[in-house]
Amino acid sequence: MTKIDSKSVVTSGKMKMPVVGLGTWQSTAEEIDIALNAAIDAGYRHIDTAYVYENESAIGTTLKKLFDSRKITREELFIVTKLPIMGNRSEDVEPFLKKSLEALQLDYVDLYLIHCPAGVMNKGFNQLFPTNEKGELLLDKNTNLLELWKGMEKQVDAGRTKSIGISNFNQTQVKRILDSCRIPPANLQVELHIYLQQKELVSFCKEHDVTVCAYGPIGSPGQKAFLEKRGLPTEGIRVLSPLEDPVIKEIAERYNKQPSQVLLRYMIEYGVAVIPKSINPARIKQNFDVFDFELTKEEFEKISALDRGEDGRMFGGRGSQGFFNLMESHPEYPFPK
Ligand SMILES: NC(=O)c1ccc[n+]([C@@H]2O[C@H](COP(=O)([O-])OP(=O)(O)OC[C@H]3O[C@@H](n4cnc5c(N)ncnc54)[C@H](OP(=O)(O)O)[C@@H]3O)[C@@H](O)[C@H]2O)c1
Repeated sequence: MTKIDSKSVVTSGKMKMPVVGLGTWQSTAEEIDIALNAAIDAGYRHIDTAYVYENESAIGTTLKKLFDSRKITREELFIVTKLPIMGNRSEDVEPFLKKSLEALQLDYVDLYLIHCPAGVMNKGFNQLFPTNEKGELLLDKNTNLLELWKGMEKQVDAGRTKSIGISNFNQTQVKRILDSCRIPPANLQVELHIYLQQKELVSFCKEHDVTVCAYGPIGSPGQKAFLEKRGLPTEGIRVLSPLEDPVIKEIAERYNKQPSQVLLRYMIEYGVAVIPKSINPARIKQNFDVFDFELTKEEFEKISALDRGEDGRMFGGRGSQGFFNLMESHPEYPFPK
């Protein structure tokens, strides 16, 4: 295995994504400044956000302070944001990306992702999850992914993003984009952790020069709180705890590391980038401190065997009632039902 260090990247074409990034889903505006400063101090150079996380302006404010104080330069950072599901039409891409850039106080992002292949109606910039009187998401069943991708490609032409990619797409959907695109997707961001290792999808992406970034890498314990906050149903959501897995705990003890560090190290060795979220400076530091040990072949295989396939999926799909299940009747719903 090539040596992995804190400067390691996964690459696709000209895109170089640092292997560990800071996730920011559910990090509030008040929490961002501390989290981002702690992350930069710890060595992170990759930040993952999204229009729907409602923290882009807070990130922008902190970034401006960091740039003004010359603590870091724009070029040293890899910043990712995402097109919200109510922007899943070609003509909506530019206005939403411009809004994100304005909030982030940036001229460009390094990577712009389509957040999810299934779209909802656009009821204005502030209606993140438009619903009808019954509380059901107002799906836009006319989502046309190939047309939408053309809108994404135009953003590269315009210099608003260096690379473009997709999130929560299944293999067929990735293939449809690859088969018709002018600019190929540089990255696919999907739920990926020890219980949902997405082995077939990851090899398919590797074969086609699409990098993969793992979301929920330490098990996303915060999904329930998010749904509750939005008034969305939480009954039947699948909650798994990779941090508590005995195999992970045993390996962690052997290296005098935390279970979270073993989970992250495994995925980096597996060849994907990871974006653990934390607002806690000690945990932020810990999640980046994964470059001073290496799993043996046996340990790697033991963790590989923990994969539960679809039974490990928490954000949607069969047997779970995660957030994405709310879009199950959309023709572009990406997960097996
Ligand atoms: N594309 C998509 O649809 C999508 C979906 C979900 C997530 N994402 C992205 O992926 C990122 C990561 O996913 P996630 O936030 O769902 O889950 P995650 O990173 O697996 O887990 C984050 C949770 O774990 C806790 N935590 C962090 N480090 C820890 C440690 N060392 N030990 C114990 N607990 C720890 C955090 O709490 P504290 O903050 O209190 O430390 C937080 O509650 C998101 O933040 C977001 O940027 C993308």
